[in-house]
Amino acid sequence: MTTLITNIKELIQVEYFPKQMVVGKQMKELPTIKNAFLLIENNLIKDFGLMENIPQLNVDKTINAKGKMVLPAWCDSHTHLVFSGNREQEFVDRINGLSYEDIAKKGGGILNSAKKLQNTSENDLYEQSVVRIKEVMEMGTGAVEIKSGYGLNKEAELKMLRVIKKLQQNFPITIKATFLGAHALPIEYKNDKKGFLNLVIDEILPVVAKENLADFIDIFCETGYFSVADTEKLLDAAVKHNLKPKIHVNQFTAIGGVQAGIKYNALSVDHLEEMRDEDINSLKDSKTMPVALPSCSYFLSIPYTPARKMIDSGLPIALATDYNPGSTPSGNMNFVISTACVKMHMTPEEAINAATINGAYAMGIEKTHGSICKNKRANFIITQPIPSYNFLPYSFGNNLIDKVFIEGNEI
Ligand code: NIG
Ligand code: FE
Repeated sequence: MTTLITNIKELIQVEYFPKQMVVGKQMKELPTIKNAFLLIENNLIKDFGLMENIPQLNVDKTINAKGKMVLPAWCDSHTHLVFSGNREQEFVDRINGLSYEDIAKKGGGILNSAKKLQNTSENDLYEQSVVRIKEVMEMGTGAVEIKSGYGLNKEAELKMLRVIKKLQQNFPITIKATFLGAHALPIEYKNDKKGFLNLVIDEILPVVAKENLADFIDIFCETGYFSVADTEKLLDAAVKHNLKPKIHVNQFTAIGGVQAGIKYNALSVDHLEEMRDEDINSLKDSKTMPVALPSCSYFLSIPYTPARKMIDSGLPIALATDYNPGSTPSGNMNFVISTACVKMHMTPEEAINAATINGAYAMGIEKTHGSICKNKRANFIITQPIPSYNFLPYSFGNNLIDKVFIEGNEI
């Protein structure tokens, strides 16, 4: 099956020599071709270039994209989109004055979602998650990472990971799975953090690894949740199972989680709302991608990741949604790039780089995703007619997507 897209007003994020990520000043560069064509063969990008160089071919389908932009589908490297029910009541409680931490202390928050998930059947959990997978694909996401972490016991954690596996099997979107066993302390272990961590490490992790249910390992390294020592203990065990870390750090307090992540070669450290100069410096000589989650900052009214300062210090940034029922009930990457520009002073070029190639790196899929490059996956967005790519973050909250292609097929 071949599809030819013609008369593209601007083909965005084209790549001739695949790169791992874009860093610092490079993030301001967004390579494009004006008046372009794009040729798809089956699930791969076969060719692209200027309209004047379009090859003479018999194709199965031609789409005229006059006035429209084409860009790679979003790579959302941090979500918790397998969950049960919602937490809209906590949202109202926060409006009425409680903080996210107050709610967690009262047994709400992650524990609230865990209770719901434990009482939900695997089939029901799958059906609830299907709705969200379809929703994010329609909003232009072509690859997504999904974490466990609302199980808080062996049975429920494995249930979440099996649901993620089933989504991987049944949908064209690329899905990476992360085992977040240490997300919060369940009530049964309220006074026995060591016991819970041992359960995660000795009882759940070996099954996750043996059944090949996860690509990555995560932990909520945060005051009141898991310490740096807890994090190092878990990551030590994960290394033996070949699970690379992608960890939650510096959301509310900076306690050394960034350094722990780097020490264990984390693929990414995520959140980073609270960043000390030493955290920025530690990241400079690492291969660890800093991931910012601006819609979480928006929804919780907490500080935004200091992306401007970080990029100006020479660091890369990836952007992701954090889609989850508590801190970010939205999987909209279009809103994320807009918010990154408005609130974090990222330029449109930086935000698009952060949500495509750098997001792909933060999931370990930069060789196949995140840019318009020959032989990469045919995952791309065709926009509505818009004046320039700046319009994407500028016209925030509006749907500017005309079509989404994943693995070469329009969804
Ligand atoms: O990334 N911070 C930890 N985990 C999630 C929120 C979990 C929840 O509130 O359900 C996050 O924000
Ligand atoms: Fe998260």
